[in-house]
Amino acid sequence: MATIASLLNTAELPDSPTPRLDAELLLAHALGKSRSYLHTWPEREVEAESAARFAADLARRRAGEPVAYILGQQGFWSLELEVAAHTLIPRPDTELLVETALALVPAAPASVLDLGTGSGAIALALASERPAWRLTGVDRVPEAVALAERNRQRLKLDNVTFGASHWFSALAGRRYRLIVSNPPYIAADDRHLGEGDLRFEPRSALVAGADGLDDIRRIIEQAPAHLEAGGWLLLEHGFEQAAAVRELLAARGFAAVESRRDLGGHERISLGRFNHE
Ligand SMILES: C[S@@+](CC[C@H](N)C(=O)[O-])C[C@H]1O[C@@H](n2cnc3c(N)ncnc32)[C@H](O)[C@@H]1O
Repeated sequence: MATIASLLNTAELPDSPTPRLDAELLLAHALGKSRSYLHTWPEREVEAESAARFAADLARRRAGEPVAYILGQQGFWSLELEVAAHTLIPRPDTELLVETALALVPAAPASVLDLGTGSGAIALALASERPAWRLTGVDRVPEAVALAERNRQRLKLDNVTFGASHWFSALAGRRYRLIVSNPPYIAADDRHLGEGDLRFEPRSALVAGADGLDDIRRIIEQAPAHLEAGGWLLLEHGFEQAAAVRELLAARGFAAVESRRDLGGHERISLGRFNHE
């Protein structure tokens, strides 16, 4: 029978940028244990059934499938989220949006909207930090809405509601103190769509027209009708899109327009405040 150490040492993932980490995550998953268990018990023998499951998962990873889809879960903020192929795997980059939202609006009761909620990552992270906020998360893809709702139930966060909506279509007459979104923002012909995890994620979560700004344009155009006086719009975008997004916000009449940089120095989110005259 193979041991934990021998299975890890013979796992081949030539195309992965993180082969050892991937193998450890997949073996821990096959065993139903944590990664630290693997480090503590390297000489422990692995049952044939678990070894077969590990081999099958390794083959999926060798074919390029993201580890998060194979595991069916991904950590985001302080939360462990179920993920599925109908929407984006939440990225650490998006934690900048969560941090900025938390710093922008006081912890007092407020209505907050997450557009294109996907797994529910942003709405659930905000809800977990701000029990007094009432969060709404919407997505156009019904399977994403169902996934977000499963995450909400598992995390027992009662201050969030998820629903289906094509941007604001199902939200007529509703206004928010803060609207956040990590919308699709990749240009349709971007070569990165053929690389890495992006190959496996749905186009509906990634692509937004010829310049990647179609959805951001739509959201900026429609957001003022759904913001309270002095309410904020906060958008994630590609690192080369910040100037264009700031321009769109200013042209629509937003004030206090600015972009924020991630730890790598890239301008990845932009925001503005709308003061109704
Ligand atoms: C980049 S993903 C972000 C998912 C999640 N908010 C996150 O940060 O991990 C964009 C999401 O927007 C959704 N979406 C795309 N077009 C939409 C539309 N017209 N109305 C609402 N949601 C939309 C996609 O289904 C996808 O879940």
